[in-house]
Amino acid sequence: MAPPHPLVATFQQAGQGHVFAFFDRLSPDEQVRLLSEAAEIDLSEVDRLNRTLVVPTGAAAGVDLTGLAPAPYQPVVAHGGDAAAWQRAKVAGEAALRAGRVAAFTVAGGQGTRLGYDGPKGTFPVTPVMGKTLFQVFAEKLRAAGNRYGRPLHWFIMTSHQNHAATEAFFKAQACFGLDPTKVHFFRQGRMPAVSFEGKILLETMGSIALSPDGHGGSLRALERSGALDLMEREGIDTLSYFQVDNPLVRAIDPTFVGWHLLHGSEMSSKMVPKAYAEEKLGHFCVQNEKMVVVEYSDLPMAMQRETEAGGQLRYRAGSIAIHLLDREFIRRMARSGDAGLALPFHRADKKIPTIDAGGSVVKPAKVNGVKFELFVFDAQPFAKNPLVIETSRADDFSPVKNAEGVDSPQSCRDDQRRQFARWLKANGAKLPTDASGLPGVNLEVAPSFGYDEDSFAEAWALLPSKPLLVDGLVLA
Ligand code: UD1
Repeated sequence: MAPPHPLVATFQQAGQGHVFAFFDRLSPDEQVRLLSEAAEIDLSEVDRLNRTLVVPTGAAAGVDLTGLAPAPYQPVVAHGGDAAAWQRAKVAGEAALRAGRVAAFTVAGGQGTRLGYDGPKGTFPVTPVMGKTLFQVFAEKLRAAGNRYGRPLHWFIMTSHQNHAATEAFFKAQACFGLDPTKVHFFRQGRMPAVSFEGKILLETMGSIALSPDGHGGSLRALERSGALDLMEREGIDTLSYFQVDNPLVRAIDPTFVGWHLLHGSEMSSKMVPKAYAEEKLGHFCVQNEKMVVVEYSDLPMAMQRETEAGGQLRYRAGSIAIHLLDREFIRRMARSGDAGLALPFHRADKKIPTIDAGGSVVKPAKVNGVKFELFVFDAQPFAKNPLVIETSRADDFSPVKNAEGVDSPQSCRDDQRRQFARWLKANGAKLPTDASGLPGVNLEVAPSFGYDEDSFAEAWALLPSKPLLVDGLVLA
């Protein structure tokens, strides 16, 4: 009999030998696969997480809220911000874009479970008339911004093991939506094993480990590992515009935000919107021990989320819409600090994790049976020099597709896109009846190639020799 693989012994020494309990019953191919999954696992990291997050508490520990206060932010001009400072930021950001210092980055590794969509979330159709996909909307915005500033943009897309091949195939089939394929870069995020409440690594089948994406915070180490940071350095790019795959309204490239970030000497900047209501599911920008932190909606007690100021507005109103700018060398520093004990903390999520019983049969648990570990990118904020939060207008930056129906659904997102197109049209003198919420009576769409923000829209509209009739189904392209 062949001697056991050295990994098997390593797992046994770490108290995780059960991972190979069925090894002898696997085919040679299955054995190779299990060994390669096992090789991905950092056993000392799992051990540390077990000791700190899993075994001692028995249940998810609460977040430390000592000394927590709302974070300061730069308000928009409509809310008392300094108009000259906003203008200076825009000028500085446009100069940085013309100098080619900015690249785009989409995190698209999530599983989209809440939406109930089978496939990479970026392939979900989202625009009101054409039904363009999320990826197409971003691609067209980036292409238009690249043309506007005379510097085609690099675009990094983080996928997961589950959706990587499908994502690449989708872009290939769509000829990269007209983008230069050498400037579109896909890389996979890392995976973490799920463990039982006793800290034992869970098997999904006899021959595979229950592995899941390591959270969007895993993007920092994945950017480094994939060579994206080196590529940025070679190309003279120092600023990464980070956004989530679920938000087609995002100003994927926002010169004013870039300008604020650079003029402030910030290593990590974020956008906030005032929360629409206390229960809205957004992270909160806060300060704690003089550091900027984000406290998730699930971690801030509802009584605090409902606290108000004298004027009646929410005290913890600065909601995170997961739009950030990251300095390249800051990302590198964060990624490398991982080798010396990972700076970003893992979060524990108790989940129902399909696994196997003692006989090796697959079981779908009826209640939570284990723990997944995830990193959150906003946890980098306390490590950044001069972190900055600026306000943005929700109507022009945030309408995510998260749920199949109701709030943050495909329907609410299509309506928000139509409201935005109607606002742009009306601001430029078009007559378009809308209801009290700004929703136009007709269904129409503006392609990003025509206008991807107020400025580019206004310029394109002014150049039209004759204005189109604003009828149902109109697409301005
Ligand atoms: C997230 C934020 C929340 C913010 C809200 C705004 C977290 C924990 N919370 O909530 O603070 O107010 O968005 O919309 O992030 N992703 C990966 N890999 C992963 C996990 C996620 O790439 O391993 C990507 C997803 O594809 C998606 C994004 O990260 O683009 C957000 O993930 P999701 O889990 O949907 O976060 P939310 O709970 O909606």
